Amino acid sequence: MKSTFPLFPDSASSLSSHVDALYIIWALVSVFFTVLIAGLIVFFMARYRRSDPEQVGVEERAAVWLEILWSAVPLAVMLAMFAWGTRVFFQLYRPPADAVEYTAIGKQWMWKVQHPEGQSEINALHIPVGQSIKIKLASEDVIHSFYIPAFRIKQDAVPGRYTSLWFKATKPGVYHLFCAEYCGTEHSRMIGSVYVMEPRDYQSWMAGGTGKSMVASGADLFTSLACVTCHRSSPGVTQRGPNLEGVYNSQVKLADGRTVTADDNYIREAILNPFAKVVAGYDPVMPTFQGQVTEEQLTQLIAYVRSLGPTGGAPAGGTGGTPAAGTAPSTAANTPQTPGPAAPQK
Ligand code: CUA
Repeated sequence: MKSTFPLFPDSASSLSSHVDALYIIWALVSVFFTVLIAGLIVFFMARYRRSDPEQVGVEERAAVWLEILWSAVPLAVMLAMFAWGTRVFFQLYRPPADAVEYTAIGKQWMWKVQHPEGQSEINALHIPVGQSIKIKLASEDVIHSFYIPAFRIKQDAVPGRYTSLWFKATKPGVYHLFCAEYCGTEHSRMIGSVYVMEPRDYQSWMAGGTGKSMVASGADLFTSLACVTCHRSSPGVTQRGPNLEGVYNSQVKLADGRTVTADDNYIREAILNPFAKVVAGYDPVMPTFQGQVTEEQLTQLIAYVRSLGPTGGAPAGGTGGTPAAGTAPSTAANTPQTPGPAAPQK
């Protein structure tokens, strides 16, 4: 529940207690050393104060063992805290394989959220409790920051590329959603609510919505934007663009000899700026779609390309890349489709 005492937010995700433990222990260690050092300074000031104006101090050297001790102990403490912090950091930023991907797009001044099944909402996020959820972030204008204090997660949404975060909510309730990056006059109003629901309630909430899944919308776009005319293999026809089946998260060889991973950011760039990284074996003939597709449509197209991923044949642009083993088996990935007329799902 939204706390009425906002000094310390609710703890409602699988990792929030880990973050809190790190934070509290760090605070206690800092307080301990601050008090120790400040206390010793005050104590020595009193104990060794000059008793008459003529007194001159005697030169003293600390024992070697003491020097080593007060260097080694803080070093060990710092390294231990560093290792612990790193561990928590990686837990926070590496989504588990079963995470379901949602999309949140920041825009002056709102958060637009899209569910994999197609529902979209503004300044609200409905999620089931106990499910790992990855949020893919994009921005339509300036840098925003997606922040859910109760889950102890925050990540910038940066224009021009995708970032992501993940969490697993552990307690049903309503929690704050903030933008945590100053993004213009109404930054402070770029807020919303996260509704963590029991799976059954979530299902009935979902049933109330309409709309196509991300993959189906992407498949529609793939046809309506005429991507399908070049990115489909038809026997006997010179193919102008790579077949996209099996491409997602594979290694793609480029015309200039480099090899890149065909991840979300690569596919996004390939749509908006096709000449940047041309696939080996193809001419740079693809028109740019900059200005013709919105951020939402981009994420739908990428969801569609991903749906072609592991189910497809040989990777295009062919270096024999392996279709991603670790891609999230989200609902989006469970609907194999071949390029062509879209098969609306809902
Ligand atoms: Cu968006 Cu502050």
